Amino acid sequence: MKITWFLGLLLIASAVTAQSLYPHDEEVQIINGEEHVQTPFGLMLRECVHNVPSGTYIQESEDGSIFLTNDEKNFAKRVQKSEKCQKANPSIKLEQWIDNGGWDLPAKTPLSKFEAYYYVPNTPQTTNNQWLYYFIGSQNNDGSGPGVSIIQPVLSYFKGWYFQSWNCCPDGQAFNSPSIFNITPHDQVYGSVQVKDSQVTIISQNKLGEQSTLTVDRNGRNFTWIDATLEIYGISNCTDYPKGRMTYSQMNVTLSDGTIALPEWDNTFGASECNGQTFIQGPKTISIYHNVIPE
Ligand SMILES: *[C@@H]1O[C@H](CO)[C@@H](O)[C@H](O)[C@H]1NC(C)=O
Ligand SMILES: *[C@@H]1O[C@H](CO)[C@@H](O)[C@H](O)[C@H]1NC(C)=O
Ligand SMILES: *[C@@H]1O[C@H](CO)[C@@H](O)[C@H](O)[C@H]1NC(C)=O
Repeated sequence: MKITWFLGLLLIASAVTAQSLYPHDEEVQIINGEEHVQTPFGLMLRECVHNVPSGTYIQESEDGSIFLTNDEKNFAKRVQKSEKCQKANPSIKLEQWIDNGGWDLPAKTPLSKFEAYYYVPNTPQTTNNQWLYYFIGSQNNDGSGPGVSIIQPVLSYFKGWYFQSWNCCPDGQAFNSPSIFNITPHDQVYGSVQVKDSQVTIISQNKLGEQSTLTVDRNGRNFTWIDATLEIYGISNCTDYPKGRMTYSQMNVTLSDGTIALPEWDNTFGASECNGQTFIQGPKTISIYHNVIPE
C-alpha cells in the first residue's frame, strides 16, 4: 500500500518537472507486438528491465528468481524467473561501444574497487533522439559465477544529462536506479564500483553529492576486466555527438589483495566516426573526443 502511494507521488513529481527518473521508460517501442526500451545493453523487452529505488540490493536465487530488497525505502519485490528474459539475454554485446579503454586485471587478483571522475562533455548541438552512454564498469570475463554480469555507473544523454547505476543481466534481467539530474557540461561527476565480501556496490554521484546506487550479490563472480567507454544508439548526425572531450580522470583501481593497480589500458576499438578518438593519457586518465581534431 505504502509503496504504491510512494510511487504515485514520484510519478506526479516527475510529471510536474517533466523529468522522468527512468527516461528510457518514457520511450517505449513496440517491436513484433512487444514493448521494448532502450538500455545500455541495447533494446530490451520492457518486462526484463527493472526500475528500482536507490540502494536496492539485488540477489539471485538458485531457482532463477531474483529478490530485490531495500529496507530504507520500504521496498521488496521478487522478480520471477522468466524464460522469455533468459532467451533474450543481451549477455553484453559490445557492438554499440565505439570508444573504449579496457584492461584485464592480473590473474588471481580480481577487482576490489574502481572509481573515476567523469568530466561531462558539451551538450550535443542537435537532439535526434540519440542515446549516449558514458561509463566506467567491470565484468566477470573469466567465466566465474552464473553468467556474465556488468556493473556500471552510466552518465547518459537523452534530451538531457542524467546519471544512473545499472546492472545487467542476471537471468536476462537488467536493473537500474533512479536518475540523478543537476548535471551540466564541464561538471566532474563521480562513479564507482566496489566489491566487498559478497556484495558489489555501484555509485553514481553528481557534483552536489546526490547519489543513486545499486548493490548486487556477487554470487561467486570475480570481476576480472574493467573499462571506460562511450556507447551510442540512434546517432543520425555528427552534431548528435558532443563537440570536444569527455574525460575519465583520477581513476583508482584497487585489487582484491589490497594493492593499487596502474592499468595498461588497451584501446582495442581505435578511431571512430565523427573524428572519434580515445586518448589513453595514462593509467589514471582517458579522454574521448568527437567533432574536433585534438591537439
Ligand atoms: C583517487 O585517489 C586519489 C588519491 O587518494 C584521490 O585524490 C582521488 O580523489 C581519487 N579519485 C577519485 C575518483 O575519487
Ligand atoms: C575468484 O578469485 C579468487 C581470488 O581472489 C580465487 O580464490 C577464486 O578461485 C576465484 N573464483 C573463481 C570461480 O574463479
Ligand atoms: C547535420 O547537422 C548539420 C549541422 O547542424 C546540418 O547542417 C546538416 O543538415 C545535418 N545533416 C543531417 C543529415 O541531418
